[in-house]
Amino acid sequence: MEKTFLMLKPDAVQRGLIGEIISRFEKKGFKLAALKLLQVDRGLAEEHYKEHKGKGFFEPTVQYIMSSPVVAMVWEGKNVVALAREMMGATNPANAGPGSIRGSYAMDISRNVIHGSDSVESAEREISLYFRPEEILTYQKPGEEWLSE
Ligand code: GTP
Ligand code: MG
Repeated sequence: MEKTFLMLKPDAVQRGLIGEIISRFEKKGFKLAALKLLQVDRGLAEEHYKEHKGKGFFEPTVQYIMSSPVVAMVWEGKNVVALAREMMGATNPANAGPGSIRGSYAMDISRNVIHGSDSVESAEREISLYFRPEEILTYQKPGEEWLSE
């Protein structure tokens, strides 16, 4: 089953939004495969955002995700990479739909509450940055036949 990497950024943790945001993914029908609260260090932050190295927002973004604990998660489900990005809304919360996570809970691109992998390949890379293989769990939940054929 497809997997994605989602991270509740420091502002989500500090603002007490962990439960609200996780709840949206649970209600959608996705399955949680791994979860941890951690403090991101500089090495991990720079590796996470290495595609943006050299851009003006690289250093502030690295500082941002190091600024407080984050919640790192692996979620699985049909089309979860694209659907989670849809649920998150645009990178800049000012352009995010009102029902999306960033549209509901954020107002500025520098504090946009959540990260989500942008492709299946990015998801694999990011999952392996934050989790060891044995931390990704496989289990059954009742009612899975009510989520898709
Ligand atoms: P992520 O899921 O966090 O990767 O966001 P994204 O894929 O929607 O956007 P992108 O990968 O292009 O940017 C990564 C992160 O850098 C964003 O989520 C923001 O936190 C930050 N960022 C991007 N552009 C800007 C910017 O112009 N200014 C600031 N301050 N931060 C930015
Ligand atoms: Mg990105």
